[in-house]
Amino acid sequence: MPVSSITVRAERSGDFEAIDQIVSAAFLAEFGTTTEAALVRRLRGRHELIPELTLVAENDGLIVGHIAFSEVTLDGRAASGLGLAPVAVAPNAQNAGVGSLLINAALELAAHDGWRFAVLLGHPAYYPRFGFIPAAPIGLTGDYGDHDGWMVKTLGGATLPTGHVRYCSAFFD
Ligand SMILES: CC(C)(COP(=O)(O)OP(=O)(O)OC[C@H]1O[C@@H](n2cnc3c(N)ncnc32)[C@H](O)[C@@H]1OP(=O)(O)O)[C@@H](O)C(=O)NCCC(=O)NCCS
Repeated sequence: MPVSSITVRAERSGDFEAIDQIVSAAFLAEFGTTTEAALVRRLRGRHELIPELTLVAENDGLIVGHIAFSEVTLDGRAASGLGLAPVAVAPNAQNAGVGSLLINAALELAAHDGWRFAVLLGHPAYYPRFGFIPAAPIGLTGDYGDHDGWMVKTLGGATLPTGHVRYCSAFFD
């Protein structure tokens, strides 16, 4: 599957079942859980996804990857901050550049749309290639601990945020 054959576009209602399957399969294989698929459904159901940044990767008419974003607050206030979660690539399409394509495309759109930073909880060895750095050492805390996987990236030349980040309601039930 050459990455050049992959199209990235915003998710549509006809994609929801395929997205559900991909997120479930990817997280089941990596972490033994399908809770992230339920999270995507909850985010969507509560209109907490940012539609223009919630993208699919399509190969020959088949969805092979998905990335979701929601707004986070900083010390309880809106701060043009995004939470990247979750991102998933179908197990049989991994390590071919699909995840990178989705992440780079979404971050570029986000910067263009005026978002100032994105945070995530993820593999500490994967996200530095996209410009993410550990968030805790720069004074950015979150509700999920301060380990190396808690990361931030500024967008569009914004300054690094400090304070406490909170994800939207779908993350809390
Ligand atoms: C993480 C994920 C989205 C990456 O997508 P992908 O399309 O396979 O990634 P890419 O092809 O763009 O990049 C491949 C690179 O990522 C690295 N990578 C993949 N999973 C990784 C992990 N768990 N930890 C560290 N690096 C990882 C690969 O080693 C490879 O590195 P290389 O470029 O140096 O060879 C995908 O593996 C996935 O869906 N995993 C299961 C769900 C998940 O973990 N989501 C992220 C939660 S933080």
